[in-house]
Amino acid sequence: MLHLNAFLMGVGHHEAAWRLPESDAFAQTDVEHFKRLARIAERGKLDSLFLADSPVLWNSIGRRPAGTLEPTVLLTALAGATEHIGLIATASTTYNEPFNLARRFASLDHISGGRAGWNIVTTAGVEAARNFNLDELPAHRDRYERAAEFIDVSLKLWDSWDDAAPLGDKAGGVWGDDDLLHPPHHKGRYFRVAGPLNVPRSPQGYPLLVQAGSSQDGKELAARYAEAVFTAQQTLAEAQAFYVDLKRRAAALGRDPDTIKILPGIVPAIGATEAEARALEEELDRLIKPEYARQQLATTLRVAPEDLHLDRELPADLPSEDEIQGAKSRYTLIVTLARRERLTVRQLIARLGGGRGHRTFAGTPEQVADAIEEWYRSGAADGFNIMPPVLPSGLEAFVDHVVPILRRRGLFRTEYTGSTLRDHYGLARPANQFARVPVAAAH
Ligand SMILES: Cc1cc2nc3c(=O)[nH]c(=O)nc-3n(C[C@H](O)[C@H](O)[C@H](O)COP(=O)(O)O)c2cc1C
Repeated sequence: MLHLNAFLMGVGHHEAAWRLPESDAFAQTDVEHFKRLARIAERGKLDSLFLADSPVLWNSIGRRPAGTLEPTVLLTALAGATEHIGLIATASTTYNEPFNLARRFASLDHISGGRAGWNIVTTAGVEAARNFNLDELPAHRDRYERAAEFIDVSLKLWDSWDDAAPLGDKAGGVWGDDDLLHPPHHKGRYFRVAGPLNVPRSPQGYPLLVQAGSSQDGKELAARYAEAVFTAQQTLAEAQAFYVDLKRRAAALGRDPDTIKILPGIVPAIGATEAEARALEEELDRLIKPEYARQQLATTLRVAPEDLHLDRELPADLPSEDEIQGAKSRYTLIVTLARRERLTVRQLIARLGGGRGHRTFAGTPEQVADAIEEWYRSGAADGFNIMPPVLPSGLEAFVDHVVPILRRRGLFRTEYTGSTLRDHYGLARPANQFARVPVAAAH
C-alpha cells in the first residue's frame, strides 16, 4: 500500500497562492485553518500531515505570507481536532538541545495517543545561525555529526524510562520502579546529558523519525536512523536512483530496507480537465513577482542578482556542490533542472515557485493517480508527500478525487487499521534499548 503524507503550508505551496481571490491571506497563523486542513486529510485516511520549519523568518515578508506558528505547538492543537492521522513536525538538531526536544516530542506523542513524528533537519542558511549566537553557518559535515549525536541522545532519553517503570501501585504505595529508569549519563562531542527524561516512555516508544536532507551526509543519516524520508526528485530516473541508493545504504547497516519509507514530493495542480489544471498552474505562475524569487535564487546560487537575467539561462560559471555549506541536495537539484531543460531564469522561477524544487504536475485526477502509480510501481517511491499548490482547495481535490481512484486500484487504504503513526506506516513499535523486560511481557 502507498503511504500519503499531506505537507501543509499556509494557503498552499505555490508562492502566489495567497493572491488568489479564494485565499485567506492571513491563514498561516489561524489554527482553525489548520484544523480544517487536518480534518480533510484525515477524511482521506492519509497516513500523516507534516509541517516544515526553520528558526528564522524564511523570506521577505513582501513576497508571501510569512511568520509561522511553532510546529509542535500547532500539532498539539491539531491532535485535539483529529483522531487518527499522524502529526509530523520539523525541528532542527543544530539549534535545539536534545533534552528539550526529546521532551517536547514525547509530550506530543502522549497527547496525540501515539501519532507524533519528528522531521529531523540540520537547518541550512546563515540567517538561522545568527539567531543562535553564531556569525557563520556551522559546516555541513559538523551539522550532520551533531545531528547523529543529537538523535543518539534523544533515543537514550526516550528509552530512559522502561515501559514498565510506572506502576501506580496504590496498595503498596509505590508509584514507579526507580530500578526501571535508565539515565543515559551521556558524554559526547556535542552534548553532556545525565537524564533520565522527565516524561515516561510514550505510546510509540518515541516519535516516528523522519529525515529530509538528500546530500551524501543526509543519506547516511537517513540510512542509520530514519523510518521515513522526504525528498525532492524531479525525474523518475533520479527518484529510482535515490531510492535504490538509500535502501542499499540502510541494508548495508544491517537494517531491513522495508523499514525506511521513501516519500518524494509532488505538487499536483488538479483540474476536471487537463486544460483546467494547466489554467490553474498558469494563473498561479502569472501571479509570481519575479524580483523576490530572483533575489532568493541568487542567494541560493551564490551569485549577484544582477547576474541572473530573467530571459536568459543560468550563468555558466556556478559553484560546485562541494562549495555549498547550506542545502547541498536542493542546490544540485535546481542547477540540474535548469540545465537539463534549458530553462530561462524566469521559467526556473516559475518551476520553483510551484514547489521549491519538488516535482510539479498539472492534470486530471486520473492523470495525477497515474503519475503516482507509475513512480510507486517503478521502484521510485513507497509513497508521496502531497504538496497542494493551493489550500484548502488543492487538498480537497486530492482527497475527494485522486484518493478514490487510488483506492479503486487497490493502492490505498479505505480505513485506518491501527491507531499510531507507526501503525499507518506499517512499522513496529521500537523496543527499548535498555529494556530488561521484553515490552510484550511488561504489560
Ligand atoms: C519535503 C521536504 C521538507 C523539508 N523541510 C525542511 C524544513 O522544514 N526545514 C529545514 O530546515 N529543512 C527542510 N528540508 C531540507 C532542506 O530542504 C534541504 O534539503 C536540507 O536542509 C539540505 O540538506 P542536504 O544538505 O543534506 O541536502 C526539507 C526537505 C524536504 C525534501
